[in-house]
Amino acid sequence: MATLRLGDIAPDFTAETSEGTIHFHEWLGNSWGVLFSHPADFTPVCTTELGAAAKYKDEFAKRNVKIAALSVDPIDKHHEWIKDINETQNTTVNFPIIADPEKKVALLYDMIHPNASENFTVRSVFVIGPDKKVKLTLTYPASTGRNFVELLRVIDSLQLTANYSVATPADWKSGEDVVIVPSVKDEDIPAKFPKGHTRVKPYLRMTPQPNK
Ligand code: BEZ
Repeated sequence: MATLRLGDIAPDFTAETSEGTIHFHEWLGNSWGVLFSHPADFTPVCTTELGAAAKYKDEFAKRNVKIAALSVDPIDKHHEWIKDINETQNTTVNFPIIADPEKKVALLYDMIHPNASENFTVRSVFVIGPDKKVKLTLTYPASTGRNFVELLRVIDSLQLTANYSVATPADWKSGEDVVIVPSVKDEDIPAKFPKGHTRVKPYLRMTPQPNK
């Protein structure tokens, strides 16, 4: 499979997980999705990451996002490791961890980068919209744990920009002003953005976040 690009349909698959067999698209339903891989079970950084992801359960749920983790370890190893995650990270893993010992999903999503590691998945993240299209990809090396607050922030931006003619500026956080996209004509702004706007430059027009 070639590299997945933004706007591509996230490939469907059937896989065994710590919560039973899932058919990925059916499991996603009308939700947003986050599919993220980690190199291996019983490794330190991965343990902290999956614990962090579990702690943000309510934040993902609030945004109508289902999350699923993946590594090439077998299912019995996942079940054993989950006990350690729960114990050491003071949480309860509350999302499926996909067992992919045959690397079927890993190859489908290009999660193995042979020049980094021939056998293990890197830390890939795919955010998938309700239309099953890839909205965001991230790739981190094994040595760097991901920032789940940033992941939630990006999801806020994706969900906002899916519904309004806005984009979000650098370091934006939900509740802060947003950028009106260039395709909106000046004369259409008052009707589209009744909260008002600031014209900093002809191409840089800011408005309060429309859905707050
Ligand atoms: C870890 O999760 O700690 C890890 C996994 C593979 C390589 C390096 C670190």
